[in-house]
Amino acid sequence: MRHLLSAADLDRSAAVALLDTAAGMAATQEREIKKLPTLRGRTVVNLFFEDSTRTRISFETAAKRLSADVINFSAKGSSVSKGESLKDTALTLQAMGADAVVVRHQASGAPHRLAHSGWVGSAVVNAGDGTHQHPTQALLDAFTLRRHLVGAGDAGLGRGLDGLHVAIVGDVLHSRVARSNVDLLHTLGARVTLVAPPTLLPVGVDAWTCATSYHLDEVLAQDAPDAIMMLRVQRERMGPGATGAVGGGTGFFPSALEYTREYGLDARRLAMLPDHAIVMHPGPMNRGLEISADAADSSRAVIVEQVTNGVAVRMAVLYTLLAGEREAL
Ligand code: CP
Repeated sequence: MRHLLSAADLDRSAAVALLDTAAGMAATQEREIKKLPTLRGRTVVNLFFEDSTRTRISFETAAKRLSADVINFSAKGSSVSKGESLKDTALTLQAMGADAVVVRHQASGAPHRLAHSGWVGSAVVNAGDGTHQHPTQALLDAFTLRRHLVGAGDAGLGRGLDGLHVAIVGDVLHSRVARSNVDLLHTLGARVTLVAPPTLLPVGVDAWTCATSYHLDEVLAQDAPDAIMMLRVQRERMGPGATGAVGGGTGFFPSALEYTREYGLDARRLAMLPDHAIVMHPGPMNRGLEISADAADSSRAVIVEQVTNGVAVRMAVLYTLLAGEREAL
């Protein structure tokens, strides 16, 4: 593996190998082995053009636990605000000797440009590009699903997510998390149903490897998902009036009130889930819009654990890219 740009680039064996490596990393953390020497002398650059809490801190923590040096770059306060291009920013980082560049960018495709332009010679990891992909989020979600629903620790090793049903609910249109999860969950053998209002489903969704529904109550009552993954309503990606009042516009379905009534996860819908089902959310959450406090804080919610698992998964990705065999995907 040379770069990690898209969940769609991972075949089943590569995805399972990353999850297994992450399980090994998690085991070291659980044994309170704080640091592994694996990436001593290597440099990881976190190149963030878009805001992040979880992903940036998680990559920084992962790199440091593997003993790498970390440089954090945020577009805010950098020469990007003076108009410096992605190319010149990349060339500057290359001159400083980065071994891996973890990039988040508002433009879909920016990490691909970085990886294939020749501007940097390092491994490139996509930490979220526009509405396109967020592959490490999909990996940490798969890791969490496997731990809870397939087998924790050694019991899960070598296994995918065969036969599981995952409902992904909400603002699919703007969600790189949904796209990445549809790709990876399908690769790992799970069945996915996207549940959203028609205005928040993208054109062409019929060609995705999943089912779609406009009716959350129907899916919960008739199709017993093993996990429900609530998506954040991404108001910042909705132009005024473009997609619906939920994004700040007027006169379109759904209003925030309608959205919560039709698609929000609350105590009533929580009670419709099978006993073993888990509640997921990539964060940050809009409490009271796509998820109620009851649901977010319930014993079925694994939202905080997703964050913990993100560190082990990102350790596995950095380890595989920088210490494992590097070959073209
Ligand atoms: N899930 C996720 O990408 O969160 P951040 O935007 O906080 O990184």
